[in-house]
Amino acid sequence: MIAAASIEGFFLIKGGIHKADYSEKKSNWFKAGRISDFEMNKTYPFTSGHFYLRRFEDGGFLAMSVKCTHLGCIVNNDAGSGGFHCPCHRSQFDKYGEVLSAPATRPLDTFPIEIRNGEIWIDTYQPVKRKSFDKSQLSYVS
Ligand code: FES
Repeated sequence: MIAAASIEGFFLIKGGIHKADYSEKKSNWFKAGRISDFEMNKTYPFTSGHFYLRRFEDGGFLAMSVKCTHLGCIVNNDAGSGGFHCPCHRSQFDKYGEVLSAPATRPLDTFPIEIRNGEIWIDTYQPVKRKSFDKSQLSYVS
Protein backbone atom coordinates (compact mmCIF):
# COMPACT_ATOMS: atom_id res chain seq x y z
CA MET A 1 0.00 0.00 0.00
CA ILE A 2 2.77 2.39 0.96
CA ALA A 3 4.73 1.37 -2.11
CA ALA A 4 1.71 2.07 -4.37
CA ALA A 5 1.23 5.50 -2.75
CA SER A 6 4.91 6.23 -3.20
CA ILE A 7 4.81 5.30 -6.86
CA GLU A 8 1.67 7.40 -7.40
CA GLY A 9 3.33 10.28 -5.54
CA PHE A 10 6.39 9.91 -7.74
CA PHE A 11 4.31 10.15 -10.91
CA LEU A 12 2.34 13.10 -9.54
CA ILE A 13 5.57 14.92 -8.79
CA LYS A 14 7.06 13.90 -12.10
CA GLY A 15 3.90 15.05 -13.89
CA GLY A 16 4.09 18.37 -12.08
CA ILE A 17 7.66 18.84 -13.15
CA HIS A 18 6.78 17.83 -16.68
CA LYS A 19 3.99 20.43 -16.80
CA ALA A 20 6.46 23.06 -15.62
CA ASP A 21 8.61 22.28 -18.66
CA TYR A 22 5.66 22.95 -20.98
CA SER A 23 4.93 26.31 -19.39
CA GLU A 24 8.57 27.38 -19.60
CA LYS A 25 8.69 30.77 -21.26
CA LYS A 26 10.48 31.14 -24.54
CA SER A 27 10.83 34.90 -24.63
CA ASN A 28 11.56 37.69 -22.20
CA TRP A 29 10.63 41.03 -23.74
CA PHE A 30 12.29 44.12 -22.33
CA LYS A 31 11.01 47.59 -23.23
CA ALA A 32 14.04 49.77 -24.01
CA GLY A 33 12.09 52.96 -24.73
CA ARG A 34 10.56 55.04 -27.49
CA ILE A 35 12.38 55.34 -30.81
CA SER A 36 12.75 59.07 -30.26
CA ASP A 37 14.70 58.36 -27.04
CA PHE A 38 17.67 57.08 -29.06
CA GLU A 39 20.01 59.35 -31.00
CA MET A 40 21.76 58.08 -34.10
CA ASN A 41 25.38 56.94 -33.77
CA LYS A 42 25.10 56.26 -30.03
CA THR A 43 25.22 53.22 -27.76
CA TYR A 44 22.98 52.87 -24.72
CA PRO A 45 23.70 50.47 -21.84
CA PHE A 46 20.87 48.47 -20.28
CA THR A 47 22.49 46.78 -17.32
CA SER A 48 19.31 45.18 -16.02
CA GLY A 49 18.64 43.71 -19.46
CA HIS A 50 22.28 42.66 -19.93
CA PHE A 51 22.60 44.33 -23.33
CA TYR A 52 23.81 47.43 -25.14
CA LEU A 53 21.46 49.01 -27.65
CA ARG A 54 23.21 50.77 -30.52
CA ARG A 55 21.47 53.07 -32.99
CA PHE A 56 23.57 53.46 -36.13
CA GLU A 57 23.97 56.38 -38.51
CA ASP A 58 21.26 55.05 -40.83
CA GLY A 59 18.76 54.64 -37.98
CA GLY A 60 19.20 50.85 -37.63
CA PHE A 61 19.15 49.30 -34.16
CA LEU A 62 21.31 46.45 -32.85
CA ALA A 63 21.06 44.93 -29.36
CA MET A 64 24.33 43.29 -28.26
CA SER A 65 25.01 41.20 -25.20
CA VAL A 66 27.23 42.73 -22.52
CA LYS A 67 29.01 39.36 -22.16
CA CYS A 68 32.41 38.93 -23.76
CA THR A 69 32.44 35.91 -26.07
CA HIS A 70 35.77 34.77 -24.64
CA LEU A 71 34.86 33.80 -21.06
CA GLY A 72 31.81 35.93 -20.33
CA CYS A 73 33.15 39.01 -18.54
CA ILE A 74 31.11 42.20 -18.91
CA VAL A 75 32.46 44.39 -21.71
CA ASN A 76 32.67 48.17 -21.41
CA ASN A 77 31.56 50.59 -24.10
CA ASP A 78 33.85 53.28 -25.45
CA ALA A 79 31.60 56.27 -26.11
CA GLY A 80 34.13 57.75 -28.57
CA SER A 81 34.50 54.84 -30.99
CA GLY A 82 31.26 53.09 -30.05
CA GLY A 83 33.30 49.90 -29.64
CA PHE A 84 33.69 47.64 -26.62
CA HIS A 85 36.60 46.36 -24.59
CA CYS A 86 36.81 43.55 -22.08
CA PRO A 87 38.61 44.25 -18.79
CA CYS A 88 39.46 40.58 -18.18
CA HIS A 89 41.79 39.62 -21.05
CA ARG A 90 41.61 42.73 -23.21
CA SER A 91 39.53 41.56 -26.14
CA GLN A 92 38.29 44.46 -28.21
CA PHE A 93 35.17 44.73 -30.35
CA ASP A 94 34.07 47.39 -32.82
CA LYS A 95 30.71 49.21 -32.73
CA TYR A 96 29.09 46.28 -34.56
CA GLY A 97 30.41 43.90 -31.90
CA GLU A 98 32.97 42.33 -34.23
CA VAL A 99 36.31 41.23 -32.79
CA LEU A 100 39.17 43.68 -33.23
CA SER A 101 41.59 41.86 -30.97
CA ALA A 102 41.73 38.41 -29.34
CA PRO A 103 41.46 36.30 -27.29
CA ALA A 104 37.74 36.51 -28.20
CA THR A 105 37.18 34.85 -31.58
CA ARG A 106 33.57 35.71 -32.38
CA PRO A 107 31.41 38.83 -32.25
CA LEU A 108 29.25 39.82 -29.30
CA ASP A 109 25.96 37.93 -29.29
CA THR A 110 22.81 39.81 -30.24
CA PHE A 111 19.20 39.83 -29.07
CA PRO A 112 16.10 40.01 -31.28
CA ILE A 113 14.43 43.43 -31.54
CA GLU A 114 10.82 44.30 -32.27
CA ILE A 115 9.53 47.78 -32.91
CA ARG A 116 5.93 48.10 -31.73
CA ASN A 117 3.92 51.32 -31.76
CA GLY A 118 7.03 53.49 -31.74
CA GLU A 119 8.72 51.53 -28.96
CA ILE A 120 11.84 49.36 -29.02
CA TRP A 121 11.47 45.92 -27.42
CA ILE A 122 14.35 43.48 -26.91
CA ASP A 123 13.90 39.74 -26.34
CA THR A 124 16.58 39.00 -23.75
CA TYR A 125 15.60 35.34 -23.32
CA GLN A 126 18.20 33.81 -25.64
CA PRO A 127 21.30 35.53 -27.05
CA VAL A 128 21.91 34.87 -30.74
CA LYS A 129 25.41 33.74 -31.72
CA ARG A 130 26.84 35.02 -35.01
CA LYS A 131 30.01 34.64 -37.06
CA SER A 132 30.19 38.22 -38.27
CA PHE A 133 28.14 41.37 -38.64
CA ASP A 134 25.90 41.94 -41.60
CA LYS A 135 23.25 44.54 -42.21
CA SER A 136 20.40 42.05 -41.96
CA GLN A 137 21.03 42.01 -38.18
CA LEU A 138 19.84 45.63 -37.90
CA SER A 139 16.22 46.50 -37.10
CA TYR A 140 14.60 49.53 -38.72
CA VAL A 141 11.46 51.53 -38.18
CA SER A 142 9.15 50.59 -41.05
FE1 FES B 1 36.79 38.90 -22.24
FE2 FES B 1 38.54 37.02 -21.70
S1 FES B 1 36.55 37.27 -20.88
S2 FES B 1 38.76 38.69 -23.04
